[in-house]
Amino acid sequence: MSNSPAHMHATSAHALPSYLNPEHLGPWGIYLQQVDRVTPYLGNLSRWIETLKRPKRALIVDVPIELDNGTMAHFEGYRVQHNTSRGPGKGGVRFHQDVTLSEVMALSAWMSVKNAAVNLPFGGAKGGIRVDPKTLSRGELERLTRRYTSEIGIIIGPTKDIPAPDVNTNEQVMAWMMDTYSMNEGATASGVVTGKPIALGGSLGRREATGRGVFTVGQEAAQHIGLDITKARIAVQGFGNVGGIAAKLFAQAGATVVAVQDHGGTVYQASGLDVPALLRHVSEHGSVKGFGPAETLLDAQFWGVDCDILIPAALEQQITAANAQQIRARMVIEGANGPTTPEADDILHERGVLVVPDVIANAGGVTVSYFEWVQDFSSFFWSEDEINARLVRIMREAFAAIWQVADTHRVSLRTATFIVACTRILQARELRGLYP
Ligand SMILES: NC(=O)c1ccc[n+]([C@@H]2O[C@H](COP(=O)([O-])OP(=O)(O)OC[C@H]3O[C@@H](n4cnc5c(N)ncnc54)[C@H](O)[C@@H]3O)[C@@H](O)[C@H]2O)c1
Repeated sequence: MSNSPAHMHATSAHALPSYLNPEHLGPWGIYLQQVDRVTPYLGNLSRWIETLKRPKRALIVDVPIELDNGTMAHFEGYRVQHNTSRGPGKGGVRFHQDVTLSEVMALSAWMSVKNAAVNLPFGGAKGGIRVDPKTLSRGELERLTRRYTSEIGIIIGPTKDIPAPDVNTNEQVMAWMMDTYSMNEGATASGVVTGKPIALGGSLGRREATGRGVFTVGQEAAQHIGLDITKARIAVQGFGNVGGIAAKLFAQAGATVVAVQDHGGTVYQASGLDVPALLRHVSEHGSVKGFGPAETLLDAQFWGVDCDILIPAALEQQITAANAQQIRARMVIEGANGPTTPEADDILHERGVLVVPDVIANAGGVTVSYFEWVQDFSSFFWSEDEINARLVRIMREAFAAIWQVADTHRVSLRTATFIVACTRILQARELRGLYP
């Protein structure tokens, strides 16, 4: 283990757990730097800050399944509960070949912050399996999901920790999770996961909720900087649940979506991409690649596209010191979790680019997940209009409060969101006290 100055600089303030490699802290290192930035604003509550710098509970599980060809395969699975001071854990499950413990820890911590930022009665959690689900058959995917759910079943539950979809997981995966947990419990437990199909206690509006939240905070932020949405040009990275819906809603509001990038490639059309047609193309071909009417760009060119709003909605660490200088947008709305590194954050700040951070921008999904959980408990379901109206109200009020804090302390929206959220989490921590 090296004690080089660079390593000391990145980690000196933090007592790292032995299970992390200080040389490759990954997204957890970014999260720790974000916590450091907020600490000076927490007053007396900062004496509890260490509680935010380590997850409450991290479970690593082996997920063995039988493949269709009769052989056995083993996958690494995780469920991390970062903080449960304000309520049960809540956060998605990601199936991706690059998932690591550090990543799941960071994503769980961002869930704690996000839930507190919009004042939902949840702590933060996250899960994942290190697998490329595109290489599995439907039967293999189902067996993988069910075995993983059984393995983490000892720590999840409707009042303990409630998973939801994330990258490469969807309503069907949530249905299998709900069924597996219910079978093991001997009773239907619809409140154990959110993002379920409507027929199984899912909520109207949940599928579109994260994209709708991105659109809502985008509208609010645009007003603050005097940007007319109907004239705005938009570039979106990631065209799945979050990016696809956000692009659709911005286009419906009159904005021009000029560029879209996904794992398959980058398409560009200065006059505006036909978003519904592009969504159909993706559902037929799996990617934006080869979308007829558009030009194809090299992936690296995406960041320099002339636009007003850039929406990263794919994976972490996409906007870095290497490409932040090229970005021409006036505003970045983080649909993805952790897409901007702290160095890139500083570069964008110096260049006057407004960054609406993930912990508020993509909170729409968990907000409607909260509505789903409440509806499941009462077995009483609301109309889509009611859900969307409540979602928009919560997002607008949370954003206004965060803008105010940013203004008062002259800090970035990210630090302001962390101030609001960490204050709430640590107040709860202090009121509950340490047990025993
Ligand atoms: N689904 C939700 O409700 C939700 C809520 C909050 C945050 N998020 C976050 O939003 C992000 C996207 O999640 P999603 O649910 O839309 O996932 P998804 O699986 O529906 O879509 C992911 C998209 O990212 C693209 N992508 C993957 N790798 C890429 C790469 N290397 N370069 C460019 N594009 C790439 C994929 O092609 C796809 O279009 C993630 O960071 C997730 O944590 C999702």
